[in-house]
Amino acid sequence: MSFSVAADPKTADIKPFEKKVWLSSPTMHGDEQKWVDYAIETNWVSTVGENLNEVERLCAEKIGRKYAVALSAGTAALHLAVKLCGEKLYGQPKVGHGVLEGRRAFCSDMTFDATVNPVAYEGGEAVFIDTEYDTWNMDPVALEKAFELYPDVKLVVIAHLYGTPGKADELRAVCDKHGALIVEDAAESFGASYKGVQTGMFGDASVISFNGNKIITGSSGGMLLTDSLEDANKARKWSTQSRENAAWYQHEELGYNYRMSNIIGGIVRGQLPYLEEHIAQKKAIYERYKEGFKGLPVQMNPFDEANSEPNYWLSCMIIDKDAMCKQVRGEKDALYISEPGKSCPTEILEAIASVNAEGRPIWKPMHMQPMYRMHGFVTRSGSGRARSNAYIAGGEAFDVGADIFERGLCLPSDNKMTPEQQDVIIEVIRRCFA
Ligand SMILES: Cc1ncc(COP(=O)(O)O)c(C=O)c1O
Repeated sequence: MSFSVAADPKTADIKPFEKKVWLSSPTMHGDEQKWVDYAIETNWVSTVGENLNEVERLCAEKIGRKYAVALSAGTAALHLAVKLCGEKLYGQPKVGHGVLEGRRAFCSDMTFDATVNPVAYEGGEAVFIDTEYDTWNMDPVALEKAFELYPDVKLVVIAHLYGTPGKADELRAVCDKHGALIVEDAAESFGASYKGVQTGMFGDASVISFNGNKIITGSSGGMLLTDSLEDANKARKWSTQSRENAAWYQHEELGYNYRMSNIIGGIVRGQLPYLEEHIAQKKAIYERYKEGFKGLPVQMNPFDEANSEPNYWLSCMIIDKDAMCKQVRGEKDALYISEPGKSCPTEILEAIASVNAEGRPIWKPMHMQPMYRMHGFVTRSGSGRARSNAYIAGGEAFDVGADIFERGLCLPSDNKMTPEQQDVIIEVIRRCFA
């Protein structure tokens, strides 16, 4: 969804920012250029080279995993992670067949579709597990319920949304009880930790992303993380067209062109020393919003304060139920009726856009997406398909993802936003509730 900069009576007296304040844009420091130049000067301008070796070593070391495999995207890493776990569970498929063909896998529901699409790439059917309010991640109670409904499932794909760790121990305990493997999608949460352990440590195979909007970036790129040398070697081989060790092109299994380039590796190598600095900047943004919203009927995206340290990649807010004005969303458009003292995500996003800043709706849950609407969806209180206006029914949300999507939004979280610019955004949001 995009919002044009238009006159808004609430913000008419506020001068729009000259340079757009983005949701989350790349922040370069200069070292990136050095390592890209190094790759070019030494002519390692392909999918091998020192930058790749170094980013693999540094990422594995930072997260605490034995092996990291640098790939072209987080999505590619997720695909290979699903394939690795799928082969462990079900064996190697025939050429032209997916490893999950005819099988289901449980997946986070409120996430970006890249988390769940690899299940479909491998011929499987995603069954979505509802979200919990404490961390906005997969609900361990709903996951347990899902195993009762679908006892054959052996693969669970779990994302940590917006840089906030999910309840990793509880989710792992449920999966262990049912003999299921975990693919952990830590694309958004690089540098975040749960009970002192970095995200990227909790999956049988785990993934981070260096997409342009992430906490650090390579412009694109991703990393598969594992403690198994055999798995790391397999993923590396698959990512370079599954070439066998022979004088000619020899292939015994399906391959992909998923390896990271040494040029992209140079950008990632230049960014890695700034991960902690970016996290500190994002944390300051989160805390400034939290302070600035005092007295408003809103909450920030929550995290388990006793056990987790997010990377604060995106600051989000959710409007209290009784402070929501009427808002109706179709497939691609939204309407609302402004009301004194109340607001809604659509009104706030329009108001933010009117001062030339970028917010975004909460990632629309997968069970509400047209392409996945007919798939299974399991909540704490039962199973079914997409239901709208969840919290209106009986006052209690039985579809937590739909409820957070309805009432929540992502705020401008760019680490180059100044405190003064952020104060303007806070003022704009305060006016929406006037
Ligand atoms: C939760 C999540 N998973 C996976 C991805 C895919 O990563 P990439 O864009 O590097 O393919 C993204 C972001 O792009 C994401 O936000």
